[in-house]
Amino acid sequence: MTASLFSSFRLGDINLPNRVVMAPLTRNRAGPGNVATPLIAEYYAQRASAGLIVAEASQVCPEGQGYEDTPGIHTPEQVAGWRLVTDAVHAAGGRIFLQLWHVGRISHTSLQPGGVAPVAPSAITAEAKTYVAGRFIDTSAPRALALAELPGIVESYRLAARNAIAAGFDGVEVHAANGYLIDQFLKDAANHRTDAYGGSIENRARLLLEVMQAVIGEIGAARTGIRLSPVTLVNGISDSNPQPLFNYVVEQLDALQPVFIHMIEGVTGGPRDEPAFDYAALRQRYHGAWIANNGYTAAMAEAAIANGQADLIAFGRPFISNPDLVERLRQGAPLNELDKKTLYGGGAAGYTDYPTLAA
Ligand SMILES: Cc1cc2nc3c(=O)[nH]c(=O)nc-3n(C[C@H](O)[C@H](O)[C@H](O)COP(=O)(O)O)c2cc1C
Repeated sequence: MTASLFSSFRLGDINLPNRVVMAPLTRNRAGPGNVATPLIAEYYAQRASAGLIVAEASQVCPEGQGYEDTPGIHTPEQVAGWRLVTDAVHAAGGRIFLQLWHVGRISHTSLQPGGVAPVAPSAITAEAKTYVAGRFIDTSAPRALALAELPGIVESYRLAARNAIAAGFDGVEVHAANGYLIDQFLKDAANHRTDAYGGSIENRARLLLEVMQAVIGEIGAARTGIRLSPVTLVNGISDSNPQPLFNYVVEQLDALQPVFIHMIEGVTGGPRDEPAFDYAALRQRYHGAWIANNGYTAAMAEAAIANGQADLIAFGRPFISNPDLVERLRQGAPLNELDKKTLYGGGAAGYTDYPTLAA
């Protein structure tokens, strides 16, 4: 039988009833202390028919925050807040991973403990905006992390993974995409280091692989996934030669056997075909589950699964405006339109009030 978007899939130790993944989506609605709230629990529970939810990027430490009101996963209060979410999703029959995030240089001094500079592989300011006090502003000039600080960064991911499991998540996705800290280390536009973490491909991939080893060591490979975006241009990131870099990264990941690789094809939320890149060359180097994302329609998703290009397809924007996206895709029903004004921050409007087909 040919696999379809609506056939089940075994992901590590869990069964997904369909191949539709909810992509991680930052919505800036965390409460005081960057704690997930009952409203956030309601939002995710509404989307529990997804084969898998990857919950929004959540900072692994205070320095890892780059936008206001994003949730964290480094304090006991944050663990308790997320427990509301995972309980609600599980009660609604769903499965949920948490995306682990350190923004690196995509931050602002006003969000950093003590108002200091954000950290990065090198002291190079990103040509990018962040979101503070309800508006988009330039990111601050970062300082380069000292070699001696890197074990502490790896440790924060390990502790965050432990916290995510304590909060009831089925697993975690390490955010190594979209120009945030791990991607900044990978790519030569942001990494000018001359130590063991800069220069060669092996050196630039070192932090990513150390984080993956630490997280897998803590919670197991069956509960650890990773998100990559080889050629995205968001957040001012780029690499002069991404194909050999990502061929190497995926070969090394294959040895660690994370439960999935989540691949953003093209520019996140933008063109899929440019810059050109050979994703099949990556897929062929990896034996685990493959999630593809970026601009997929139902027809594109069915084709990608039928011809083996991906096992699972992640949808981002369509899940914001369609809590019952799986049912709509199944029926070929029309989708609700996305309200861009309510994406970041605010309350229930544009968050938990999008109608289902049944309503
Ligand atoms: C409002 C919004 C928030 C996002 N937040 C995240 C995030 O927290 N982590 C992440 O990896 N990608 C994030 N993305 C990117 C999406 O996960 C996804 O890659 C992108 O929307 C392309 O998929 P789509 O065409 O199905 O929407 C975000 C996108 C949007 C529109």
